[in-house]
Amino acid sequence: MAEFSLPANSKIKPTGKRYAAPAGATNVRAFKVYRWNPDDGANPHFDTYELDLETTGPMVLDALIRIKAEVDPTLTFRRSCREGICGSCSMNIDGTNGLACTTAIEDIKGEVKITPLPHMEVVKDLVPDFKMFYAQYASIKPWLQTVTPAPSGEERLQTVEDRSKIDGLYECILCACCSTACPSYWWNSDKFLGPAILLQAYRWLADSRDEMTGERLDMLEDPFRLYRCHTIMNCANVCPKGLNPAKAIAEIKKMMVERAV
Ligand code: SF4
Ligand code: SF4
Ligand code: FES
Repeated sequence: MAEFSLPANSKIKPTGKRYAAPAGATNVRAFKVYRWNPDDGANPHFDTYELDLETTGPMVLDALIRIKAEVDPTLTFRRSCREGICGSCSMNIDGTNGLACTTAIEDIKGEVKITPLPHMEVVKDLVPDFKMFYAQYASIKPWLQTVTPAPSGEERLQTVEDRSKIDGLYECILCACCSTACPSYWWNSDKFLGPAILLQAYRWLADSRDEMTGERLDMLEDPFRLYRCHTIMNCANVCPKGLNPAKAIAEIKKMMVERAV
């Protein structure tokens, strides 16, 4: 896609800064990073940071950490585990949602453009506001719900086969890469639960120990919460853990049909 640029006679001046690579750098790569600070009154813009890849770690997160530590301490982003486990470094890298800590710089051609996850409010720079996402997560009651008393002195056990039914679901790290790649979620994020939360909902529906299946399906039986998924499959294409939220959504719809007959 062609990049937007201002006409030559525009009175609007680009506000982004460019930080040149250190003298003597031999393998220079530019990182064009979205910047917005709610406290300085300036418009959102991109700053460009040049780094020497010979002395930078291999992942996009390594580049961001280096920029913050050595070039511009005001750059703000989330990260914690740097192992693809916590889900906090999700962002849009070169046009695709992903985890900065598991995205290799060498897999990206040319300038590396980094923006926050799309269609979420921005708190600052690369930090999106997850308040609604977490409220939607809480709405599906993401914990084991039972009515029968727990066996005395024992855990609630599952067969190996029942346990395998939550494979491909429990691995979700709630990074929101899928939901923020979903056009249905972009347009109806206040009403449609989106692929991440629906995958989590199915994780509990598929758990043989949970005894609230009817109540869970009742909560999802709504023209927006579940049925705004139109099987466009963006969600499965971007999940950094290789999960398939669209399949989980299809399984919930199947459960709805089966209980209706
Ligand atoms: S399959 Fe459904 S949830 Fe996934 S991106 Fe498409 S519309 Fe969104
Ligand atoms: S399903 Fe994948 S992309 Fe979506 S929140 Fe979970 S780990 Fe992230
Ligand atoms: S820092 Fe935890 S997933 Fe990237």
